[in-house]
Amino acid sequence: MRRILIAGNWKMNGSIKSIQYLLIDIMSGMDAVKQADVAVCAPFVYLNLVANMLQDSGIAWGAQNLSEQSAGAFTGEVSADMLKDFSCKYVIIGHSERRSLYGETDALVAEKFATARAAGLTPILCIGELLAEREAGETEAVVGRQLDAVTQRNGVAALADAVIAYEPVWAIGTGKTASPAQAQEVHAFIRQRIAAQDAGVAGKVQILYGGSMKPDNAKELLAMPDVDGGLIGGASLKAVDFLGICTAAPA
Ligand code: PGA
Repeated sequence: MRRILIAGNWKMNGSIKSIQYLLIDIMSGMDAVKQADVAVCAPFVYLNLVANMLQDSGIAWGAQNLSEQSAGAFTGEVSADMLKDFSCKYVIIGHSERRSLYGETDALVAEKFATARAAGLTPILCIGELLAEREAGETEAVVGRQLDAVTQRNGVAALADAVIAYEPVWAIGTGKTASPAQAQEVHAFIRQRIAAQDAGVAGKVQILYGGSMKPDNAKELLAMPDVDGGLIGGASLKAVDFLGICTAAPA
């Protein structure tokens, strides 16, 4: 059985104070979270604070991006080893905001995935289609292409120690969630595409859904057979909402 993983993606939000309050509140509600593993992905500058606060909490943490380079003259970049220094377990790779706003290509995402794995970080690989692509019937072509770029560079076995997040871009931050059936359809497609190369890896890899997941829609989404958790943006910034999603995981 695949465990459910609920991962918060704080994006560029928070302050020392607000993160302290948020984590205190999340930690105080963790007793009720039985069926899910929980993680938060913080801005780089708060990783030290997050690591200190969460070290004995059972909540994992990670970053939202990393450099594909290992070290050197890359002003403004953050390496995988630096993330390891702060005991990050996860790193989000290829979020649609990185792809669309910062020009990250499939090839660069595949490199970042390789760099993360080489350092022992667990990549949370984000893939998903734009609204126009969905309307043109291109969802599977887009998601398949994004996935293949990573497996061709890293080998399909690399997905065994990774997490995939299916995030339809039209559902991110818009309040428009994919229906459970829409999510399941794409999750099943992703798993089948991996299974065509390695059934063992396909059975093992966690595929999260992301895009306006909230306490009131989480239960139905998480009940889908191929939905193994959620990558949560807006709702991860409020402890009550985040915990509401964490406790919605099926028994
Ligand atoms: P959202 O963001 O939950 O605010 O839609 C999800 C994400 O971008 O990971």
